[in-house]
Amino acid sequence: MSHFDLTGRKALVTGGAQNLGAAIAKALTQAGAAVVLGDVNAEAGEATAAKFRAAGAQASFVHLDVTDEASWDAAMPQVVSDLGGLDILVNNAGIEITSLLIDLDPVQLRKMLDVNIVGTSLGIKNAFKAMQPGGAAGQGGAVVNISSVAALIVFPALSGYSGSKSAVDRITRIAATESGALGYGVRVNCIYPGLIGNPMGMKLATDVVDIGLFPDAETAVGSVVGLTPLGHLGEQADMANAVVFLASDAAGFITGTGLAVDGGMGS
Ligand SMILES: NC(=O)c1ccc[n+]([C@@H]2O[C@H](COP(=O)([O-])OP(=O)(O)OC[C@H]3O[C@@H](n4cnc5c(N)ncnc54)[C@H](O)[C@@H]3O)[C@@H](O)[C@H]2O)c1
Repeated sequence: MSHFDLTGRKALVTGGAQNLGAAIAKALTQAGAAVVLGDVNAEAGEATAAKFRAAGAQASFVHLDVTDEASWDAAMPQVVSDLGGLDILVNNAGIEITSLLIDLDPVQLRKMLDVNIVGTSLGIKNAFKAMQPGGAAGQGGAVVNISSVAALIVFPALSGYSGSKSAVDRITRIAATESGALGYGVRVNCIYPGLIGNPMGMKLATDVVDIGLFPDAETAVGSVVGLTPLGHLGEQADMANAVVFLASDAAGFITGTGLAVDGGMGS
């Protein structure tokens, strides 16, 4: 059950094969939406879609590398045809590489910028093309981008990641103005998730230990919790619920903004 109704809505979730993307897709289905999971990990994506179908949802997988325009060109017709339209895009695919500036590897940095900035931008481009009047879906809709609390705070070893997620914040706002000015009928918002106790979040905790910033992962996580007014880490479901809200008609007059889902850490 969901607090918000997405019955009949059609959603694409990038990076939807596992972890946060899969949790978002699950929450969308629980609110009544049909979903396509777009990801480079076909094995996990097919398995997650099958799990959602077994639970009674309409769900499928499409191979999608968000950094690659040709991959979007190949995936979008399948997405629109599988769903019979497109109302919601969640730009969730993202990677995190932890590094002090003094150790920066430009190859790794460019890879992260490619997924987090170029991938998100291509997602918005393709959503606008499909959802605008006369597009393959043509009914307008909602885009929700996944930024990070790293766009709101400063933390050592996160310069590249924070920069990429700050870019997602700015791109969100500009996309909303373009949609408004040119009549695409698409609301564009983002969320800023706090640290989650999932594989990406826990890898970050061990990375900052390896770099020498904390004695152990428990202390690293404890320092984040200590900066969080609500006093604990967020769950994937907390982030997913916020995405469902922003995608729903309950957020019908909300565009060009970001919602911190971080227990107050970034305030
Ligand atoms: N985990 C956290 O603590 C946390 C906190 C704040 C924000 N976020 C953001 O949430 C999002 C999801 O994070 P997660 O924890 O589920 O990470 P994850 O690494 O577990 O999942 C990311 C998914 O994206 C897919 N992916 C990677 N590159 C891709 C590409 N080029 N094209 C398509 N798919 C691709 C991966 O295969 C994977 O399924 C990311 O944008 C991340 O930056 C995570």
